[in-house]
Amino acid sequence: LFAGQTEFLKGVVAMAGMPPADRVEVCFAGRSNVGKSSLINALTGRKGLARASNTPGRTQEINFFTLGVERYLVDLPGYGYANAPLPVVEKWQRLLRQYLSGRQTLRRAFVLIDARHGIKKVDQEILALLDSSAVTFQVVITKADKIKEKDRSRVLDQVRGVLANHPAAFPEIVVTSSEKGDGIATLRSIIATLE
Ligand code: GTP
Ligand code: MG
Repeated sequence: LFAGQTEFLKGVVAMAGMPPADRVEVCFAGRSNVGKSSLINALTGRKGLARASNTPGRTQEINFFTLGVERYLVDLPGYGYANAPLPVVEKWQRLLRQYLSGRQTLRRAFVLIDARHGIKKVDQEILALLDSSAVTFQVVITKADKIKEKDRSRVLDQVRGVLANHPAAFPEIVVTSSEKGDGIATLRSIIATLE
């Protein structure tokens, strides 16, 4: 499903610019710099597809990618960027709310959590928004290569504890490294089987 079939479609800054909701869609949400763009690149096997950078907050638009003819992958702008001006943050929150509550074909939101940090307060706000929008979400741990094997269970326990309080949470957690390839095949098959 993935190889050679992903294309960048468009970046949008308002609901009106979004492509028609005519196919299965999944989105990727997470703090600035958590590795959303890198994960999309790893999933699709195309390094330069979604831009990845060292500068937090680089992805400012909601970026739509087509996956074959039947799916959209959506890269959401990172949240929790400390230096973002308030009007920018408010505009982004409004757009995110509209997107999550108004996109009929959105089947799952993948919420990316850095393996080194676990779920933080800013993440909790997004999880609450997903609950209230009734969008099923699944946690994807990123940058697993940055922690020691023995520290994995600690972050997983923390995440499981938080998910227990969220009705929209999908219980399975996917541990990934875009750098090393861990979990990428698993995530691909999850996306491929959503209907
Ligand atoms: P914004 O678009 O700014 O919100 O960031 P993003 O979430 O798209 O993060 P991005 O993919 O740009 O990655 C941020 C930084 O983390 C880059 O320097 C990446 O190279 C690095 N990174 C991403 N994934 C991994 C990973 O699995 N392992 C390691 N070691 N580094 C990673
Ligand atoms: Mg990005």
